[in-house]
Amino acid sequence: MDKIIVHGGAALHGRLHVSGAKNAALPLMAASLLTDDALTLSNVPDLADIATMASLLRRHGAEIVSESIEADAPAFGGRTIRLQAAQIADTTAPYDLVRKMRASVLVLGPLVARCGIARVSLPGGCAIGNRPVDLHLKGLAEMGAEIDLTSGYIEARAPGGLRGAEIVFPKVSVGATENLLMAATLAEGETRLVNAAREPEVSDLARCLVAMGAEIEGIGSDRLTIHGGKHLHGAAHRVVADRIETGTYAMAAAISGGELELIGARMDLLDAVADVLESAGVAMEPTEAGVRVRRANGNLIGVDVMTEPFPGFPTDLQAQIMALMTVAEGAAMITETIFENRFMHVPELARMGANINVHGASAMVRGVSRLKGAPVMATDLRASVSLVLAGLAAEGETILNRIYHLDRGYERLHEKLSACGARIERVSG
Ligand code: UD1
Repeated sequence: MDKIIVHGGAALHGRLHVSGAKNAALPLMAASLLTDDALTLSNVPDLADIATMASLLRRHGAEIVSESIEADAPAFGGRTIRLQAAQIADTTAPYDLVRKMRASVLVLGPLVARCGIARVSLPGGCAIGNRPVDLHLKGLAEMGAEIDLTSGYIEARAPGGLRGAEIVFPKVSVGATENLLMAATLAEGETRLVNAAREPEVSDLARCLVAMGAEIEGIGSDRLTIHGGKHLHGAAHRVVADRIETGTYAMAAAISGGELELIGARMDLLDAVADVLESAGVAMEPTEAGVRVRRANGNLIGVDVMTEPFPGFPTDLQAQIMALMTVAEGAAMITETIFENRFMHVPELARMGANINVHGASAMVRGVSRLKGAPVMATDLRASVSLVLAGLAAEGETILNRIYHLDRGYERLHEKLSACGARIERVSG
């Protein structure tokens, strides 16, 4: 299994290309199941999760071809893919694919809306806590689907088609909003999603659905109204920039004491992150090509952070901000409100010399003057990258094992970082 080795201490400098957002591309790919026409997506990142979604969609009958690598992102992906589900060949999403990636559950809404039936394996347990899909299922039931759970599979049936409904989410869920938004475009009548997720990836999906012929009001707000039953057709859509990748590399610049221009990054999607970083002594400013990040006046300062649904501070940057805070002056209280059990990076950071105490959903980080490299291992995507960040600042060598997590969500991480001066290598074996 491949490893990443980081020799800490080098400040990052230069221009780094931000990829299209994985979390936008996955639901956009699933949306191709809503029409028999072709959906063309550009700025698609080259990641293991994208390949998993492509395998799943092919199983359902979609033809997927890679059209090109875009000229404006020569070194780093930015692929254009064409997806066409002229016919749905199979309405079952099997366990062996769903277990690899929870986002597979996003085919449920489109399949049941188009075919009146879908069988999707229950995603099961997950390293970052118990992540149920009850909100997805409750919403589909309110739209008239009959839901059964048998032999580890969700079976949803709506032989006469789905119908519009008012769905009030008791809790903000990105995936449930996306699943029901897609289903509602083909349901008969009006659907209102109340307390919907406002994440930019949800809006990106909504804009693509509109380009496909859907009628959606309230995009970007927590109330989405979908006038369903429209015939959806093909469209071309560019995947929004990855704000989590942007935030991760912003913190890489900050922790290494360097300066990066993040090409293609969208500052307007990062308000909460920019506020936190500013309080921590890190300046982010928009440039013509993206966003520039550097330490404002030398030292990093401890700052309290609480994760929240968008527009709050994203849970997907919690591990990275914690890595940054391990070497800041003073203390930082980091509170995770979205997922239980999302502190698996803490013991690994501690092995590198970080001073962190966890009390329930909060972690108190007291900054240390230096981290020390160590062999580390992580159990999820964002935890893994937080260890790479820590490695950039640490004295000596950090060896990161189990890097398949990184391949799921960071396109050519070691190449991007080493092109900006990081001493990082990927070794096989
Ligand atoms: C998406 C992102 C993930 C991110 C998360 C929160 C994708 C592919 N993944 O995951 O990277 O960390 O949003 O921003 O876009 N919940 C329920 N019942 C449900 C659904 C969710 O209780 O039916 C809970 C979850 O356990 C969690 C919270 O709601 O506590 C938010 O989860 P959700 O927004 O649904 O996350 P995902 O869509 O799985």
